[in-house]
Amino acid sequence: MNPLNQYVLFLSLIFSLFFVNSFLVFVNSISPTCSSPSSDNNNEYPAVFDAIASINPKAPLNAGKNRTSSSCSRGSPTSCKIWDVTCSEAVLGLARKPDNVEWIKGLRRKIHENPELAFEEYETSKLIRTELDRMEIDYRYPLAKTGIRAWIGTGGPPFVAIRADMDALPIQEGVEWEHKSKVPGKMHACGHDAHVAMLVGAAKILKNREHLLKGTVILLFQPAEEAGNGAKRMIGDGALENVEAIFAVHVSHEHPTATIGSRTGPLLAGCGFFRAVISGRKGLASNPHHSVDPILAASAAVISLQGIVSRESNPLDSQVVSVTSFNGGSNLNMIPDTVIIGGTFRAFSNASFYNLLQRIQEVVVEQAGVFRCSATVDFFENDSTIYPPTVNDDRMYEHVKKVATDLLGPQNFRVVPPMMGAEDFSFYTQIVPAAFYYIGVRNETLGSIHTGHSPYFMIDEDVLPIGAAVHASIAERYLNEHG
Ligand SMILES: *[C@@H]1O[C@H](CO)[C@@H](O)[C@H](O)[C@H]1NC(C)=O
Ligand SMILES: *[C@@H]1O[C@H](CO)[C@@H](O)[C@H](O)[C@H]1NC(C)=O
Ligand SMILES: *[C@@H]1O[C@H](CO)[C@@H](O)[C@H](O)[C@H]1NC(C)=O
Ligand SMILES: *[C@@H]1O[C@H](CO)[C@@H](O)[C@H](O)[C@H]1NC(C)=O
Ligand SMILES: [Zn+2]
Ligand SMILES: [Zn+2]
Repeated sequence: MNPLNQYVLFLSLIFSLFFVNSFLVFVNSISPTCSSPSSDNNNEYPAVFDAIASINPKAPLNAGKNRTSSSCSRGSPTSCKIWDVTCSEAVLGLARKPDNVEWIKGLRRKIHENPELAFEEYETSKLIRTELDRMEIDYRYPLAKTGIRAWIGTGGPPFVAIRADMDALPIQEGVEWEHKSKVPGKMHACGHDAHVAMLVGAAKILKNREHLLKGTVILLFQPAEEAGNGAKRMIGDGALENVEAIFAVHVSHEHPTATIGSRTGPLLAGCGFFRAVISGRKGLASNPHHSVDPILAASAAVISLQGIVSRESNPLDSQVVSVTSFNGGSNLNMIPDTVIIGGTFRAFSNASFYNLLQRIQEVVVEQAGVFRCSATVDFFENDSTIYPPTVNDDRMYEHVKKVATDLLGPQNFRVVPPMMGAEDFSFYTQIVPAAFYYIGVRNETLGSIHTGHSPYFMIDEDVLPIGAAVHASIAERYLNEHG
């Protein structure tokens, strides 16, 4: 485990002590970009705009009103079946048309001004549907209460999905600017407003190029990433029907504007919480033999839980088990009936994550038994505070890398280390090959240097058209290569 992880864990633990009764807040603290200390070593990377300065944004953007008249491929006689620089230029040209840039920034600002919390994204969802209607893009609504599943293309296989999350956070915005949140105590402090804008922006590009698509792109607008496992409910409502691959992006203050970062394999940790009730029998402390002492049993359980990672786990496979809460007894003269302990666990592989869950259950129950107590362990599966690790599929990661490199230049792609944060995108990765990647929003001049979940979080909006172009290229090229 590297010092960064230890630092992040330390921060998380400190944080959890303050919010030990609020899982909502606690889960927020571990979402991506919120738990990583800022890095300042970005100056060596040139701005993305240098790389694409030669792009010719001449292709008309007709919002796909008429399939046959769509002419974005003008100047690009190829079908883009074999992707070349003309194809990249066509996509970027659409994205960077001045009126498109204004439109996509406007969308993001509207959403930023009206942040909505998990499963309450009604206005955000309505705004998206209005835009889809304007572009004559078909969709199914609702999934998972406020979610949307839109599609563009032939209507046939292959099906490739792109996902954006829509929810905001219970944080008071600290940034003073024209489009500051108008809702007290709520803020898009994780950039999900940008995620929505980039995906709607991608919809416009893809609709414009619909005649070139060799299959179907599914656009997923998902509620409740920060709390409530919206992804899980989206899947339950059919979000992944027919889908054979899925991609998603998260903005990151660690990388300069529009720089793409990702890695193959584990990217974000799995994150779970547990709460164990250890039951004995209460009695006067002066006569302990008339009671069954849950304090001793719980203490032994806490010690034994430390043995799972230190004695049973591969040291090269980072894992954490932390007990963060210990409650029982109120009378100094009585042995109590019960003690409640709780904590959290993290791992980077699916197998290790579910193994930890199973071992925490076994260790607590069996250690309680040693002292004649009984125990039950709750992992809050019903409260949706359990997030498996986000693990990128090798081929999907390579696809993202190739698309980003061809579109933005190799200097604008970085391999990033795994992070302790968690993301409910992991539920999709459990079902279909997937890749999750970051897009930089860091710009020292603008002051977009704050981590996600900070009241001072902000983005460099120049990222929006580029993010839309990356989404669109990932989807279109996937279909070309698998159709
Ligand atoms: C930061 O933003 C300013 C103002 O929009 C822009 O001029 C500058 O090029 C940006 N820098 C980077 C690294 O993107
Ligand atoms: C679509 O474009 C074709 C060819 O330019 C034209 O004949 C047709 O009338 C157009 N349809 C609509 C609905 O605009
Ligand atoms: C979780 O929900 C299931 C089904 O609704 C129920 O059977 C189970 O008892 C619940 N578990 C807890 C710990 O609340
Ligand atoms: C992860 O582990 C769980 C529990 O063992 C299993 O149900 C699930 O299919 C696994 N997912 C993957 C992607 O291996
Ligand atoms: Zn977040
Ligand atoms: Zn987020």
